[in-house]
Amino acid sequence: MQNPINEIENQALQEIQQAKTAEDLEVVSIRYLGRKGLLTAFLRSISSLPEDQRPAAGKNANLLKIKLEKAIARERSNMAADSANQPTGIDVTLPGRRRKHGSAHPVTQVLDEICGIFMRLGFDIVEGPEVETDYYNFEALNIPKYHPARDMQDTFYVSDNIVLRTHTSPSQPRTMEKTDPPVRIISAGKVFRCDSDLTHTPMFHQIEGLMVDENISFGDLKGVLTTFVHQFFDQQTALRFRPSYFPFTEPSAEVDIQCVMCRGEGCRVCSKTGWLEVLGSGMVHPAVFENVGYDTARYTGFAFGVGIERMAMLKYGIDDIRKYFENDMRFLGQF
Ligand code: PHE
Repeated sequence: MQNPINEIENQALQEIQQAKTAEDLEVVSIRYLGRKGLLTAFLRSISSLPEDQRPAAGKNANLLKIKLEKAIARERSNMAADSANQPTGIDVTLPGRRRKHGSAHPVTQVLDEICGIFMRLGFDIVEGPEVETDYYNFEALNIPKYHPARDMQDTFYVSDNIVLRTHTSPSQPRTMEKTDPPVRIISAGKVFRCDSDLTHTPMFHQIEGLMVDENISFGDLKGVLTTFVHQFFDQQTALRFRPSYFPFTEPSAEVDIQCVMCRGEGCRVCSKTGWLEVLGSGMVHPAVFENVGYDTARYTGFAFGVGIERMAMLKYGIDDIRKYFENDMRFLGQF
């Protein structure tokens, strides 16, 4: 008869080899090494062997136990490695899904760009409230109550003396009240007018500029605004200063730029004139200086107001101002 220990060994190793799953291996392990396993039973039976055979039989049985444990462990880790290499239904060669990137609103982008240009010219940035008193929005700017100039802007009244600011110009008296000349500031933000069509929305954005010091002239106004337009559009863009009227500036000028669409040839955007109006400006009216306590004999200054949506429309060729505020991602995603 074959040595029982060899028989157990051959049989166990064969079964380990044939095991296809981790469960199969577990069954084999229990059959041989478990509490009632074949090898365990053999170890127990050693005590009934003749005394001279016991040491060798015990040694061999223990060596086999270690051998089988190792063989099972090895097979188990082979199986784990194989299953990690199995196809899982994921095609790792496919390109990844693109993440959607957010971006600043076109109005914000243009606002930042314009602020950047003036900051590099040495202007500081100040902020003012969107809900404004009648005083700063009108009176301090030389627009008394019942003055016909109030009709220039369709004002939203919150109460008799409180309005939604119709322009960023209130930041002029607000700043000058707090600081002595020289003043060199810009102020950007939302303004409100009761008006709505292809080129007007009830809320839009402006940037106000103000520069006050001794010897500030209309030449400084022209120089700063020309530099600004050349940096925002390009060096070739021609400017035209047209006499105008604002109660808080004298003299006043509206600034036209050569049409950026047709280069002055005349097109639909510029109504065949070749020019586009982009901002209001002028030399600060002495009455405004008096309201803030500036010495009108010593100081002069200029101010201007730019519509941001209009600048963005011209820069990007947008034909309807309402597109900015409809939150259509197909429109906004282009910027
Ligand atoms: N506040 C004027 C407007 O909204 C623009 C302006 C600003 C004009 C500063 C002159 C000086 O139309």
